[in-house]
Amino acid sequence: MSGTFNDVIQIIYLAAASCFILGLHLMNNPATARRGNQVSIAGMIAAILATGAIVIHDGLITTTGWIVLLAGIGVGSGLGLYTARTVKMTAMPQLVSVFNAVGGGAAALVGIRDYSTLGSHVAAATSVTTLLDVIIGSVTFSGSVIAAGKLQGIITTAPVTFPGARIVNMLLAAVTLGFGGYMIASPSLAALGVVIAAALVFGVSMVMPIGGADMPVVISLLNAFTGTAVAMAGFVIHNTGLIIAGALVGASGGILTKLMADAMNRSIGNIMIGGFGSGDTAAAIAGPAGAGVQSIAADDAAIQLAYAAKVIIVPGYGLAAAQAQHEVAALADLLEARGVDVSYAIHPVAGRMPGHMNVLLAEANVPYPLLKEMDEVNPEFARTDVALVIGANDVTNPAARRPGTAISGMPILDVDQAKSIIVIKRSMGHGYAGIDNELYANPKTSMFFADAKKGLAELTASVKTLVG
Ligand code: TAP
Repeated sequence: MSGTFNDVIQIIYLAAASCFILGLHLMNNPATARRGNQVSIAGMIAAILATGAIVIHDGLITTTGWIVLLAGIGVGSGLGLYTARTVKMTAMPQLVSVFNAVGGGAAALVGIRDYSTLGSHVAAATSVTTLLDVIIGSVTFSGSVIAAGKLQGIITTAPVTFPGARIVNMLLAAVTLGFGGYMIASPSLAALGVVIAAALVFGVSMVMPIGGADMPVVISLLNAFTGTAVAMAGFVIHNTGLIIAGALVGASGGILTKLMADAMNRSIGNIMIGGFGSGDTAAAIAGPAGAGVQSIAADDAAIQLAYAAKVIIVPGYGLAAAQAQHEVAALADLLEARGVDVSYAIHPVAGRMPGHMNVLLAEANVPYPLLKEMDEVNPEFARTDVALVIGANDVTNPAARRPGTAISGMPILDVDQAKSIIVIKRSMGHGYAGIDNELYANPKTSMFFADAKKGLAELTASVKTLVG
């Protein structure tokens, strides 16, 4: 690259990196998150164009290469755009996982291609980053494919393990690193093949033992791996844009993983060694109403809500599954118009991905100040007339407060402190962790068995009939 051209390219990469950082910052707040996305997209377009300019300027690829490249961009962007636009909110974790697999796989291919063309001229310093790129990229690829399969229900969500699994994992890690070391000391394509195979198997054996409820944390961890592999690929091909973008994804993915693990009171190491939860396909307890559980009709629930002074709405995965965000917003508006103090309690892991409830409620234009985080809202339940729980289960289960249950230690919303509790769900079915919810047997709790969307529409109609 000539001096001036190189300077211009580096300035564009620097501007792109600034866009990524600014974009991440803007995503801190739902009000500016959309702008954050747009700024990051602008940065990515600039980085891609700058890379295209290098390829043209340096004549790096042939005509056939151009055809393959443009076809790849066309197919890749078309598929990415289509799936991202059509995916249901509840299937977002699977999509993120597939994107991780693609990112990790692409990064590994960069390293594989680089190593296989270097022959015996490979310098140790180069091959360390190449090796890390190949290992992390391959682990991310196979691990993410398994994670997506588990989330989609194609592979069992239950932890799959066998005696001696840990020893096998340790052996795989030793083989990967051993042959990796050999690859650096004495360049060999056969050693590269062993490293790739061992890393791919390690990715599978790392994710298979992880249970349903811990999967989103693993997705987040694999996302951090993808970023790290991409940063390594940036070192391999000396591309500053790739290094910065990869490092940002690696670091932010790492922070998110830590936050999620903390919100579930799990250590990351604990999740990687063996998860909990058997997924939300777990059978429902005979019901609708089991022993000691009382149900309520729409009219009676509407009376409680309409004459309450303070109502806290607790949304969960069921609200997302039913796409009932507009119905809950309509009910809240109606109650607020009557002077009821309405707010929403947001548990950090309610739903199936970080920020799931915030995104869902923002879609229905619920004012952001009404959304209260767990630590802020928990002291308010004792002063609340009605806690209206909609399709939330595990995040309200008092069983988390005592040891020996699948969710022990997970911080929960103190819904049981409210004067009265109404739960909207379809049956006595379990949540993600696959265990009974002790809240439902609480004498203050009334179960309104309905699909969230239909139930909320019924409640709104009943409140309107009641108060005119
Ligand atoms: P869950 O505990 O999974 O419970 C959701 C409930 O929604 C189910 O019990 C189900 O009961 C009900 N439901 C499903 N479809 C419905 C519909 N159409 N209408 C009404 N109700 C419906 O959800 P949660 O309380 O939000 O907890 C989230 C779980 O995911 C936690 O275990 C958490 O640890 C786990 N998790 C989340 C994350 C993140 S980052 N969000 C990460 C890791 C793990 P019925 O079948 O009886 O209707």
